[in-house]
Amino acid sequence: MIKRLFDWLKQPLGLVAVGIVFLAVFSAAVYGIALTQKAPDQPIQFPHNKHVGFGIQCLYCHPGASKGPNAGLPSQAKCWACHNQIARTQTSELLAPLKNAVESGTPIQWVPVAQVPDFVQFNHRAHIAAGKNCEDCHGDMTKVTVAENPQVFNMGFCLDCHVKTAGEDKVLLNKLADCGTCHY
Ligand code: HEC
Ligand code: HEC
Ligand code: HEC
Ligand code: HEC
Ligand code: HEC
Repeated sequence: MIKRLFDWLKQPLGLVAVGIVFLAVFSAAVYGIALTQKAPDQPIQFPHNKHVGFGIQCLYCHPGASKGPNAGLPSQAKCWACHNQIARTQTSELLAPLKNAVESGTPIQWVPVAQVPDFVQFNHRAHIAAGKNCEDCHGDMTKVTVAENPQVFNMGFCLDCHVKTAGEDKVLLNKLADCGTCHY
C-alpha cells in the first residue's frame, strides 16, 4: 500500500499533488503567522503615537508597571478627564465609542496584546526598579497607532537579557537563569 503510494507520487501527476499539498500547508502557516502579528480589533482605535507624542508619560496611563506585576490599563474616567476638555472629542468618529462608554457607564473591553502564558511569572516592578525601559520589551510606542506586540515573549527572549544582565556575576546568573525564578 505505502509502496504503491510512493510509486504514484513519483509520477508527474503525483508530483503536482505533492506541490499543491506543500503550497497549501505553507500558505496556511504564513496566514497563521500574519494573523498572530496583526493588531487586534480594539473597541477604540487608540493611537499611542499621538498621546506619547503629546508628552503623556507611559506611567501616567500604566502606573502599575513601577508598583507590581501588572502595568494595568487606564480607566475611561482617566481618558475622559482629559478628553472632555478637548473640543475635537465631540466630533471625532474615533472618539465616539469613548463618549458612548462614558455616557452609558460600560467599561471598554480592550483586547490584550502583550501576554505570557499562565505558567510564566513576570513582574514589571523588578524590571523597572532595575532601570529597564518600557521600549526594551515593548518597542517604540511613539510609532504605534493601535498597540501590537513587536516582541514574542518566548523563553529565549527573557533568558537572553537575563544572561547578559548577570555577566560575570555567578550568583545573579544562578538566580536569573534558574527555572524556579520564572516558573513556580
Ligand atoms: C493616554 C494613555 C496612554 C499612554 C500615555 C500610554 N498608553 Fe499604552 N495603552 C493605553 C491603552 C488605552 C491601551 C489599550 C489599547 C490597546 O491595546 O491598543 C494601551 C495598551 C498598551 C500595551 C498593550 C497592552 C495589552 O493589553 O497587552 C502596551 C505594551 C502599552 N500600552 C505600552 C505603553 C508604553 C510603553 C507607553 C509609553 C511609551 C504607553 N503605553 C503610553 C493607554 C496609554
Ligand atoms: C492627558 C490628556 C489625554 C488623555 C488622558 C487621553 N487623551 Fe486621547 N488625545 C489627547 C490629545 C491631545 C489628542 C490629540 C487631539 C488632536 O489630534 O487634536 C488625543 C487623541 C485621541 C484620539 C484620536 C482622535 C482623532 O480623531 O484623531 C483617540 C481615539 C483618543 N485620543 C482616545 C483616548 C482614550 C481611549 C484615552 C484613554 C485610554 C485617552 N485618549 C486619553 C489627549 C489625551
Ligand atoms: C523586561 C521586559 C518588560 C519591560 C521593561 C516592560 N514590560 Fe510591559 N510587559 C512585559 C511582559 C512580558 C508582559 C506580559 C505580562 C503578562 O502576561 O503577565 C507585559 C505586559 C504589559 C502590559 C499589558 C498587561 C499588563 O501588565 O497590564 C502593559 C500595559 C505594559 N506591559 C506596559 C509597560 C510599560 C508602560 C512599561 C514601562 C514602564 C513596561 N511595560 C515595561 C514585559 C515588559
Ligand atoms: C531587557 C532585559 C530583560 C528582559 C528582556 C527580561 N528581564 Fe527579567 N530581569 C531583568 C533584570 C535586570 C532583572 C533584575 C535583576 C536583579 O535582581 O538585579 C530581572 C528580574 C527578573 C525576575 C526576578 C524578579 C524578582 O522579584 O526578583 C523575574 C521573575 C524575571 N526577571 C522574569 C522575566 C521574564 C519572564 C521575562 C520574559 C518575559 C523577562 N524577565 C525578561 C532583565 C530582563
Ligand atoms: C527568565 C525567565 C525564564 C526562565 C529562567 C526559564 N523559563 Fe521556561 N519559559 C519562559 C517563558 C517566557 C516561556 C513561554 C514561552 C512561550 O510562550 O512560547 C517559557 C516556557 C517554558 C516551557 C514550555 C514549553 C515552551 O517552550 O513553550 C517549558 C517546558 C519551560 N519553559 C521550562 C523551563 C526550564 C526547565 C527552565 C530552567 C532550565 C526554564 N524554563 C527557565 C521563561 C523562563
